[in-house]
Amino acid sequence: MTINRSRRRFIGRVAAGGASLLSTRTAVSAAQAPASPQRAAVAAGSRKPAMLGGAPVRTTAFPSWPVQDSREEQALTSVLRSGKWGRGVGDQVTAFERQYATATGAANCLATANGTSALLTTLSALGVGPGDEVIVPPYTFVATVNVVLMLHALPVFVDSDLETFQIDARKVAAAITDRTRVIMPVHLGGSVADMDTIMAAAVARDIPVVEDACQSHLAQWKGRHVGSIGKAGCFSFQASKNLNSGEGGAVITSDRALANRAYAFHNNSRGHAGGDFAYGAAGLNLRLTEFQAALLMAQMTRLEAQARQRESNAAYLTSQLSQIPGITPAAMYPGTTRNAYHLYMFRYDPKAFADLSRAAFVKALGAEGITSGTGYSPLDKEPFLTNTLKGRGYQRIYGAAELQRLTERNRCPQNDRLCAEAVWLYQTMLIGPRQDMDDIVDAVRTIHAHAGEIARQS
Ligand SMILES: Cc1ncc(COP(=O)(O)O)c(C=O)c1O
Repeated sequence: MTINRSRRRFIGRVAAGGASLLSTRTAVSAAQAPASPQRAAVAAGSRKPAMLGGAPVRTTAFPSWPVQDSREEQALTSVLRSGKWGRGVGDQVTAFERQYATATGAANCLATANGTSALLTTLSALGVGPGDEVIVPPYTFVATVNVVLMLHALPVFVDSDLETFQIDARKVAAAITDRTRVIMPVHLGGSVADMDTIMAAAVARDIPVVEDACQSHLAQWKGRHVGSIGKAGCFSFQASKNLNSGEGGAVITSDRALANRAYAFHNNSRGHAGGDFAYGAAGLNLRLTEFQAALLMAQMTRLEAQARQRESNAAYLTSQLSQIPGITPAAMYPGTTRNAYHLYMFRYDPKAFADLSRAAFVKALGAEGITSGTGYSPLDKEPFLTNTLKGRGYQRIYGAAELQRLTERNRCPQNDRLCAEAVWLYQTMLIGPRQDMDDIVDAVRTIHAHAGEIARQS
């Protein structure tokens, strides 16, 4: 669990609410509620919270990440000894691509240097450029938006759905204009965006959908793997991800022509033959190495079992946390047949915790040995975006008036609220035993029972 706390804090929760949502509260049987005397005592608030001098719930770490053994060692040493370290000379990258295509039900898979380059490659292969608009959610890692900016296109935000933490698919159709070149939903936190509504809006206007599935390995919508529903899907294998090679990425698509353009783009515009020096378009070197591919295939041997453990623990956690006033776990859309739980996300309401602020709640959880975070800030207000739009290139391409209109279109009040209320737990906390979930629940219950005292002391 030492990995990306400082780099990225992803936790996903979807809060149930709309009629179209499957409440994760109701998804788990009440029979799973813990009945041990210890839990009952904690529920009654008898334990003193660590913030008030009590013993912390946990003194041992959650499972460490990445998980590795002799499989990874053998994979890496075998590439090392082969002397074939790069794509083109070795066969590991192509072998991984075949495996990942099979695992996701895609006809084609292209491995890339990371998730950011998977997105950039896909948008480039779809011809996104200056003058185009790309619809994105505001509640995501910055890379989703950065790739649009790198291509000098306009990121158009569609507000978040407070209940699910995903893009509010009901608002996508209204955001489409004649300039919309791509719709790029994110399957945030391992859960799944409302793909039926998004695909309906996209098909009606013949606009390709690129699924940013960087956080959602093995997640499914109505039995289909995320990334295989739209025109293309992009994945990240960065160190925090449920499938990890330190860095790495992949594009999957059923469109062979798109796959070929993507391959050329990621290979400095050279096609599969690779040997010639004739270039049909601009490109970059965004290739995965043989070492990373070998590591990924070793990691994939545990992917399914880890995914099952996360699902089972997350369902139990939801059944327990939902009973605590002020805690609203993220809901899933009914079409979500599998959540990858890269993050476990919930909304926190200080009013139910004697006005204990979210920051103080997270600190109190930390004192109990439970690491959590507050998630993303509103991307539409971040300097990376405002400064880019104010920059020389954007002002030349679009002009001040149009960029001002974009800023007004890009306001996302629901997302502002989500960013203020979210609390994240991390995927590695979900791969251990059920007792780990009980510890999390104990900590939250104890803080709830003593929230007034903790607030006075904070
Ligand atoms: C939603 C989302 N999109 C894109 C990326 C970019 O992936 P990478 O870090 O592998 O470049 C990430 C990874 O953190 C992500 O979470």
